[in-house]
Amino acid sequence: MRERLSEIMKKNLLITGGAGFVGSNLAIFLKKHLPDCRILCLDNLQRRGTRMNIARLKDHGISFIKGDVANPRHLARLGDVGLIIDCAGEPSVLVSHEQPLRALHSNLIGTFHCLELARRCRADFIFLSTSRVYPIAGLEQIPWEELPTRYDWKKDAFGVGHSYEGVTHQFPLQGVRSFYGATKLCSEHLIMEYLDMFQLRGVINRFGIIAGPWQMGKEDQGVVGFWVIRHKYKGSLSYIGYGGTGKQTRDALHIDDVCELILLEINQMDQVSRQLFNVGGGRRNSFSLLELTAMVSSITKVSLPTISVPETRPCDIRIYMADNSFVRASTGWLPQKSLEDIITDTSQWIDAHFSRLAKVVGEG
Ligand SMILES: NC(=O)c1ccc[n+]([C@@H]2O[C@H](COP(=O)([O-])OP(=O)(O)OC[C@H]3O[C@@H](n4cnc5c(N)ncnc54)[C@H](O)[C@@H]3O)[C@@H](O)[C@H]2O)c1
Repeated sequence: MRERLSEIMKKNLLITGGAGFVGSNLAIFLKKHLPDCRILCLDNLQRRGTRMNIARLKDHGISFIKGDVANPRHLARLGDVGLIIDCAGEPSVLVSHEQPLRALHSNLIGTFHCLELARRCRADFIFLSTSRVYPIAGLEQIPWEELPTRYDWKKDAFGVGHSYEGVTHQFPLQGVRSFYGATKLCSEHLIMEYLDMFQLRGVINRFGIIAGPWQMGKEDQGVVGFWVIRHKYKGSLSYIGYGGTGKQTRDALHIDDVCELILLEINQMDQVSRQLFNVGGGRRNSFSLLELTAMVSSITKVSLPTISVPETRPCDIRIYMADNSFVRASTGWLPQKSLEDIITDTSQWIDAHFSRLAKVVGEG
């Protein structure tokens, strides 16, 4: 295993979407833990705020290349690669609904070309997939109840791939899931084919909400970051859908916990290769929008007006939490940071870059 790791270290480690939230944090984390590694971050900078990360990457000795992951000529310029971590993508369900081609281009065609690069270089492959691969109707069928501040699954709700604790990677996949989820699921299928057909190593992680510093949260993606941003720059909060109650429930995972898991996967690639993990903050880090407002307000000491919009947006889901038991049993990993840590760290990050960030995210 050590020989393989040092082989990877002799080549480049490519992070696609490397100027984005996950990609840039991961690049800096891996540079600290694998200092001899040459890390390349490729990004087409389509996400707002990504330019702020270029200087950050350079300060940590990480190379940045502007390029499109769906353009094979841009990937061919990168030289020999030992590991690809595919973090490029259009992560918004709503954007993918309005602009399907954008999601197809970045999420599926991009991953295909990364896999071709992996095949040519015999590189390992780590993929950031999503809990949105699970069908909307299937999730809605899990028995739920309305509690004073959240919707929650019933304690005895138990079925294939789910329990009160959360959803596992074995949750049935029949049904529709949003264009975003569909492009990611197609990518997962392609990855498994490449790993098998070309005897490569790789792992897929289906993450729920990831949050923390350097997430340029916006109304349609990155809700925890967006909530903290709104409190810091003032404005109103909207409870959209499900009658405008603000009771829809999710879990959140700190970006530091994501980085720890990926480092473990790099180090244990022989054991985790060809696995598919469901990963998230879990019930312990779960919240409804109403509960999130209370927690962010208490940490930032700001209270904002709220607006109720009863109509549910396309492809929204009522409740989602991940069951981490399989990834825990396979790698020993468990999230270490709480929802409070996520909000506090995000709030401190905004304070430290308040005026520069105002130009990027201050308008909402
Ligand atoms: N943030 C989350 O809550 C979350 C949850 C589950 C899965 N994911 C997945 O993790 C990955 C990273 O998400 P993120 O939160 O960092 O999002 P992000 O938008 O901050 O980062 C994605 C990056 O990819 C870049 N990009 C998009 N299309 C590209 C293309 N064609 N070529 C090159 N670069 C391109 C963007 O400019 C951006 O910097 C995505 O694939 C996303 O689907 C994220």
